[in-house]
Amino acid sequence: MVGLILKSTDASSQTPTLHTRRDWLKWTAAAAVPLTYSVSSAQTSFKHNPFSIGVASGSPNHHSVVLWTRLMPDAASGQDTFATNDVSLTWEVADDEHFKVNRRSGQVMALASLAHSVHLELEGLQSDRWYFYRFQLGDAQSTIGRTRTTPHPQAIVQKLRIAYASCQRWEHGYFSAYEHMAQENLDLVLFLGDYIYEYAGAANFVRLPPGGWVTSLSDYRNRYALQRTEKSLQAMHAQCPWLVTWDDHEVSNDYAGLVRGFSGNITLDFEAQRARAYQAFYEHMPLRASALTRSLEGLARGAELRIYGEVAFGKLANFYLLDDRQYRDRQVCNKGLNFGSGWVDPDQCEEWLNPQRSLLGAQQEQWLNQSFANARNSSRVWNVVAQQTIFGRRDYKIGAGHSLWNDGWDGYSAARQRMTQAMQNNALRNPVLLGGDVHENWVGHVMADAYQDDSAKVGVEFCGAGITARSAGNSKLPKRLAENPHFIFADSERKGYGVVEFTAKQIHTSLRVVDDVRQPQTKIETLAKFEVEAGRPQVHRKA
Ligand SMILES: [Fe+2]
Repeated sequence: MVGLILKSTDASSQTPTLHTRRDWLKWTAAAAVPLTYSVSSAQTSFKHNPFSIGVASGSPNHHSVVLWTRLMPDAASGQDTFATNDVSLTWEVADDEHFKVNRRSGQVMALASLAHSVHLELEGLQSDRWYFYRFQLGDAQSTIGRTRTTPHPQAIVQKLRIAYASCQRWEHGYFSAYEHMAQENLDLVLFLGDYIYEYAGAANFVRLPPGGWVTSLSDYRNRYALQRTEKSLQAMHAQCPWLVTWDDHEVSNDYAGLVRGFSGNITLDFEAQRARAYQAFYEHMPLRASALTRSLEGLARGAELRIYGEVAFGKLANFYLLDDRQYRDRQVCNKGLNFGSGWVDPDQCEEWLNPQRSLLGAQQEQWLNQSFANARNSSRVWNVVAQQTIFGRRDYKIGAGHSLWNDGWDGYSAARQRMTQAMQNNALRNPVLLGGDVHENWVGHVMADAYQDDSAKVGVEFCGAGITARSAGNSKLPKRLAENPHFIFADSERKGYGVVEFTAKQIHTSLRVVDDVRQPQTKIETLAKFEVEAGRPQVHRKA
């Protein structure tokens, strides 16, 4: 854990009277800082708004949420005018967007060592409530963000609306999908990986990210800041809390644990590169300080960033957010190499079903098993496993023989089987798998045995197309879908996100897709709609 917990001062005039130390602690916010820090004499006037890359919130529970910002007066140049000074800034939270009702405020540190990012863990909030927040520094003010707490874990909840999104590759298009997502009246966004891409560019690009290959700490920081210069993404972060996990491109294409994958850049010390990437991810996401399992110095080589965890939304749903990159074993049988991604014939790969191999790592698997066991008692209606890659078998060889992607769950078949078995052993109610990575929309069923089409259906799966990242197109897709009958829908043309509305009786999922990611302004439509009734692991397409 990081050294010292700094409690901010409470400068509120309308905060309820606080009588005890415990009350006081409830109303203050904690920011984790190293043992020594210096505070700059904050500038009072700014030529460029230092909140140029916006605000965000996330990691909510029923009494707390993380508020985020990063001071960056000139995001386009990547220049940080605060240099090595730590900066103290003001936060404000209220029940209303005019900051009149229950306004409270305080100071929080933006540390130079964390790229002047702020992670304010606001505690003592009421459950199931919306809040408004903003930051201030000198004469500069951030945009106003809106966030919410989850309902109490025992509360009966009528409805929950979430969106799932992934894969926002800068050079493949504009993030206009978020402009539409902001109109969806969501409680929560689940981001399922590839928030940035580390690439220098792409063929047939729409626009190019400056800076070339992303390898250094400042490269990673600049790439996140670049993504956040897009107003639609900023606006969506300000709209509601996000739960975020990552996939490979937040570090490097196809990496597995501490084994580098195939990216185009030259990496001499992958463990150090991964640590830099993890630090930049922490700096730009609304994560809790508890994600930093060691001191910041510990983020040197190979250090862990703990991003998996679970969040309950009343009695209606439980979310298990997984990390299938950081702890995984290396991929197998990629054209004779034992790492990197590729299409593999499992019959030609001795390692394919090796039960020793893990996608989540032993500790996370154990945690997930225990969480599934605990779910028996909590009896929440929906158990949503939010992770980065497609879960169901996806055989791309049409006709006899098999060709499976070794980088997703297919490449870790024994691990997938253990997880499916754990769902069944614990009679997990209504499992819903959400995923990303493949740049295609896939909708279907979680099978008791992924290789037996006549085995029992255990749950349902929705895997998203991504915000912009390109895919191969639909020409072979109908045949591939027929090859994998546990899926009922696939589309490889259109980009966007999914909206899932949960009630105690059913879920409704809409696949929302934009007309053309190459246009900064583009229309959205519903590609397909689906329904799942509670108690029946069967997904139906709706008219
Ligand atoms: Fe991706």
